[in-house]
Amino acid sequence: MEFNILVLDGDGIGPEVVAQGVRVLSTAGKRLGHRFNYTYHAIGGAGIDTYGNPLRNETIEEAKKSNAILVGAVGGPKWDDPKAAVRPEQAILGLRKALDLFANLRPVKVFPSLKSASAVKPANIAKADMVVVRESTGGLYFGEPKQITETPSGRTAVDSMVYSEEEIRRILKVGFEIAKSRRKKLTSVDKANVLATSRLWRDIATEMGHREYPDIALDHILVDTASILLIKNPRQFDVIVTENTFGDILTDEAGVLTASLGMLPSATLSGSNTDKQNSSLGLYEPIHGSAPDIAGTGKANPIGTILSAALLCDYSLGLPKAAKMINRAVETVIREGHRTSDIARLGQTSISTEEMGDLIAQKVDSL
Ligand code: IPM
Ligand code: MG
Repeated sequence: MEFNILVLDGDGIGPEVVAQGVRVLSTAGKRLGHRFNYTYHAIGGAGIDTYGNPLRNETIEEAKKSNAILVGAVGGPKWDDPKAAVRPEQAILGLRKALDLFANLRPVKVFPSLKSASAVKPANIAKADMVVVRESTGGLYFGEPKQITETPSGRTAVDSMVYSEEEIRRILKVGFEIAKSRRKKLTSVDKANVLATSRLWRDIATEMGHREYPDIALDHILVDTASILLIKNPRQFDVIVTENTFGDILTDEAGVLTASLGMLPSATLSGSNTDKQNSSLGLYEPIHGSAPDIAGTGKANPIGTILSAALLCDYSLGLPKAAKMINRAVETVIREGHRTSDIARLGQTSISTEEMGDLIAQKVDSL
């Protein structure tokens, strides 16, 4: 089969990690007799520099014609002026919104041989394996009003946390369905002791649990408690479902469990393809940022992007075999002891972004 992939390198280490993601993806495709056509667009800071625009309409239109979108990362100090009218981050947020990609899936799995490379005690993280389902088109990120105003007594700023029943239902459904295919445990994370949006969220979750998913063990925990439990006993989590901002923060925290944020992939999906059965457009990116401090040094870890390419095969292309090949290749290379510097222990030799991509592509080809 033939597939069209829109590739958005972004900024900083984005182009370096994406190059390895594309190479591994192509290797898997080739082995299985598929053809991938790649179209590249500049977004984020690179988009601002080239077109004065972090996300052009052309890019959104191209995305709609594609089977999947592979993204590096956006942002950097160069575009960080808080007064700037355009910001690199608008590219990612704009794509999520324009394509209604409301379900951001972030699987967090600790590789056994990396246990000791984590900042968290190995005993705490052993066997941790969860999926965080983060709502990604609502909440504080998009709620109106959102502005800074001048008042006689100084400036005031407002962000609005808004969730409709429909928005809550559809993301909870994704959480319940994924839990159904795993260990049948769903933890809904909110701040219902303080926030109205969370009280509505909890209400709907409880109702859906009773009526539609009686076989799923549903529990509710407050986001502050969740941040403790993620470090103290992450094994207890199977699927976590939560709103946009909480999910942003908790998944960075969860990244610590896996030794490096550089290991974590993500898939951002819309309604029809959240169950893997109905392949449709999705956006795939590592959860790390653009890491401008190490851009161009060859130190970036491409594994988050490569694992995102596996999710891409699974959710947008309907190629579970390709996904398995990529996942197995990554596991093997890690088990064999190859490390980029972010996951190497003190004194352990580390390899470059490209060398890591090479090794994983070779495994995809030979396993
Ligand atoms: C993420 C990132 C984005 C977010 C930024 C780049 C807008 O941190 O995907 O987690 O906050 O959603
Ligand atoms: Mg984030």
